[in-house]
Amino acid sequence: MARREIVTLGHPTLRVKAKKIHRVDESIKALVQDLIDTLEATPNGAGLAAPQIGVPLRAIVTLADGTRRVVINPEIVEESEEEVEGEEGCLSIPGWYGPVWRKQKVTVRGLGPSGKPLKVKTEDFEARVFQHEIDHLDGVLFVDRIEDRSRLHRVEPEEEASDDEDEVADTEALA
Ligand code: NI
Repeated sequence: MARREIVTLGHPTLRVKAKKIHRVDESIKALVQDLIDTLEATPNGAGLAAPQIGVPLRAIVTLADGTRRVVINPEIVEESEEEVEGEEGCLSIPGWYGPVWRKQKVTVRGLGPSGKPLKVKTEDFEARVFQHEIDHLDGVLFVDRIEDRSRLHRVEPEEEASDDEDEVADTEALA
């Protein structure tokens, strides 16, 4: 399997509704492995959706708080009323960050990497990553959820690499 190129803003697969996966066959298992390999090779990567590697299918990988999860055809089936605002970035919009409101808790249903049904109840940072990745499957990017574009800000790569604690916190959620 392989690390794939992450496509960036302007690439058409980032803006289409990705198609449901009907059968978890060898080609889908290979796609999932490529998502894992690509995410793990990316510093600060917290999540990756298939459209971000140019494949318009509904599959995501998350890597949040030390836990990796693969979900095929993920769907949010329950969500908290409470929302929290937090800083986000996106591997497909390099260098840009901004505050996004997300549900504090979500329950996600879908299929695991071998095609078995699964349900994940999650909260806080991981819930945020799930919501960001599922948005990718619908052609939605985090910047679409920031009404006041003046709140978007750019972080230069040298700052991203700094040891400053605040900067590290700001660049944690690259998804
Ligand atoms: Ni993203």
